[in-house]
Amino acid sequence: MPVQIRKAAVIGSGVMGAQIAAVLANAGIQTLLFDLQPKELSEKESKLGLSLDNAAVKNRYALEAITKLKKMKPAPLGTSEQSKLIRACNLTDDFKKLAEVDWIIEAVVENMSVKQDLFERIEKVKKSSCIVSSNTSGLSIEKMVSTCSDGFKKNFLGIHFFNPPRYLKLVEFIPSNSTDTNIVSDMKTFTEKRLGKTVVLAKDSPNFIANRIGTYGLLLTVQEMGKSGLTVSDVDALTGKLIGRPKSATFRTLDVVGLDTFLHVAKTVYDHTEGKEQELFDPPSFMKKLVENGAIGQKAGKGFYQKVKKDGKSVI
Ligand code: NAI
Repeated sequence: MPVQIRKAAVIGSGVMGAQIAAVLANAGIQTLLFDLQPKELSEKESKLGLSLDNAAVKNRYALEAITKLKKMKPAPLGTSEQSKLIRACNLTDDFKKLAEVDWIIEAVVENMSVKQDLFERIEKVKKSSCIVSSNTSGLSIEKMVSTCSDGFKKNFLGIHFFNPPRYLKLVEFIPSNSTDTNIVSDMKTFTEKRLGKTVVLAKDSPNFIANRIGTYGLLLTVQEMGKSGLTVSDVDALTGKLIGRPKSATFRTLDVVGLDTFLHVAKTVYDHTEGKEQELFDPPSFMKKLVENGAIGQKAGKGFYQKVKKDGKSVI
């Protein structure tokens, strides 16, 4: 029987996870959005006299992500009915709720051991028919679940959405050698028919297809920039509006992606290359400095561009 996705869970409510949850809710799928449980109170929570046991504190990250989704313009969530389909959860108290869902999408930080630990935990609670996928930008799918059972591996594959997932149609599917081919074809049909995406099959190679090309192009641009003395705004002027890409100039895109995530993605290829080729995948020190200083892009309000108040409104 083909897979039925009635209820899903997205783990990681960051840049990608929250918006993937919105894509699912817009398709009428009840979606649990998970993130970590905070270890400390925020300044605002302390002022309100809340404790770490408070439900709103425990679900803070996922709740903040849902609030952000509702504030985005144009709104990523179609109707208020659809927005009610997303529920905030945390990875401590609510972990057992993963047993209720038909599809678990992992969208946590691009770090192999964080993802491996999570899959080991998921295996203990998920129902056997549940599909599990990773939104990794390019880490090895095979390695990610190497310590999981054959049953888990059969229902596991990379399903890589592109940013911003509400607009970009492309989704890469990366099966491992153990993935059941029926699961791949059923999920492909589901992703195309219900989510309105276009699926391409990729091999389990560092950064798959689109990010392998994208990371290469971007780092080459930065290298050329250094040689020709171009600035960030010069490059964005030349690679943005003027050539019909109003929102996707080079460095603006990097701010949307997140510079921390970009450095992880570049490292994936760096670790799998040698010599001259490898040198290119070592990002320049100015990018590393930005990340060290917390300027990781739009999600932090500062990256190559900074959020400022203009006529009472925040612009970046
Ligand atoms: P993000 O940094 O915006 O969000 C990551 C989320 O993971 C955060 O909410 C964080 O609280 C949570 N997290 C951190 N450590 C955790 C742990 N130990 N356990 C559970 N949750 C944890 O990252 P983003 O950009 O949403 O990326 C998520 C995944 O999607 C990564 O694998 C990334 O490579 C991939 N991706 C990112 C794209 C982008 O443009 N940013 C595009 C396509 C894929």
